Amino acid sequence: MKTVLNPSVNKFAEVSERLNGINEYYFSQKLRQIDEMNKNGKNVLSFGIGSPDQPPHSDVTSTLIMESAQIGKHGYQSYKGSPLFREAISEWYMKWYNVSLNAESEILPLIGSKEGIMHICMTYINKGDEVLIPNPGYPTYKSAALLAGAEVREYILKEENNWLPDFEALEKTDLSKVKLMFVNYPHMPTGTFGTDEMFKKLITFAKKHQILICHDNPYSFIMPGFMNKNKPMSLLSYEGAKDVVIELNSLSKSHNMAGWRVGFLSGSAERVGEILRFKSNMDSGMFLPLQLAAVRALRLGEDWYTELNEMYDSRREKAFELLDTLGCEYDKNQVGLFVWASVPEEYGDGFSLSDEVLEHSNVFITPGGVFGSAGDHYIRVSLCAKIEVYEEAIMRISELLE
Ligand SMILES: Cc1ncc(COP(=O)(O)O)c(C=O)c1O
Repeated sequence: MKTVLNPSVNKFAEVSERLNGINEYYFSQKLRQIDEMNKNGKNVLSFGIGSPDQPPHSDVTSTLIMESAQIGKHGYQSYKGSPLFREAISEWYMKWYNVSLNAESEILPLIGSKEGIMHICMTYINKGDEVLIPNPGYPTYKSAALLAGAEVREYILKEENNWLPDFEALEKTDLSKVKLMFVNYPHMPTGTFGTDEMFKKLITFAKKHQILICHDNPYSFIMPGFMNKNKPMSLLSYEGAKDVVIELNSLSKSHNMAGWRVGFLSGSAERVGEILRFKSNMDSGMFLPLQLAAVRALRLGEDWYTELNEMYDSRREKAFELLDTLGCEYDKNQVGLFVWASVPEEYGDGFSLSDEVLEHSNVFITPGGVFGSAGDHYIRVSLCAKIEVYEEAIMRISELLE
């Protein structure tokens, strides 16, 4: 019998079941609201996303300009990235993390590390497999795992446990269906630095329960006391890590290149090959001049990171002042591109504090609950604004509180 379509109902109006539980990314909606407020003359000061406001090193931008002016550099590129780029990544890992990576087989360039999260989920997850994600944590882990058909299991990070995973508590649960675990230190949003002890425990835990660890490491160059008190850390530098770890990394934060979309993943040749099987069906490589400029960025000396960190150190102090004005409490030893703080009881939670300062002072601060329920009583302030912007926000909020 011939099927008769009802012309008033589009077959495609119903999106796939895969999107159940997946909403538009919080910042995608919020930035639209802020744009609207600005159009109405509000001049919102935003301490939301961690998008560096400063340019990359001038050698990096001039490399991009020079290379893109040449003919012969505009075609499709290798799915595995340029050998020059992979070589530079390998040297960078050795220089800064003391990790040896085979440039040919243990590195895969990515169009930003965010896409790597999805590729990893699509490569390893079957419907019903369990994925451990941190709460609070980067929201994309959950969405990517759900899109790939996983059962998401949150592991709660608590302030009293210094925001580190509680392996003993996890081991009291059934881990037999857990295939993948996302871990991220320096941790976003709490600014927690990973410890030697925790990283070693993590590898033992992963081996014992045969869980693949995805260590997401985009913040390892942003920290107070760079190279004195704190040094960049890679989970791959621990013994036996390549058996169970894939590490994501990115030039977005460390080189002021968030909009360039340059990232990479590293791990054993087997894992890299498996992920390439998926990824090579999704895109057709990265623009070559971009890769060559990224090579230049990776070869910058210590001065680059020192200057970058000096700037963030002074902004961090201003962010502390802003939080003092609001009566929030925070740990002064935080690392990364944000400051995480608990909100005073009178506000109820981070969402109400955020709404109140946005409505009455035109200042946007991210509510911690965006990163999971364990962040409900916290807020996160980005360090991606100039000193004057913190000063203006402090003034506006002080006036509100008077
Ligand atoms: C924890 C974490 N992981 C990954 C990313 C993605 O970074 P990118 O895709 O720019 O490399 C971000 C960006 O904010 C992040 O905060």
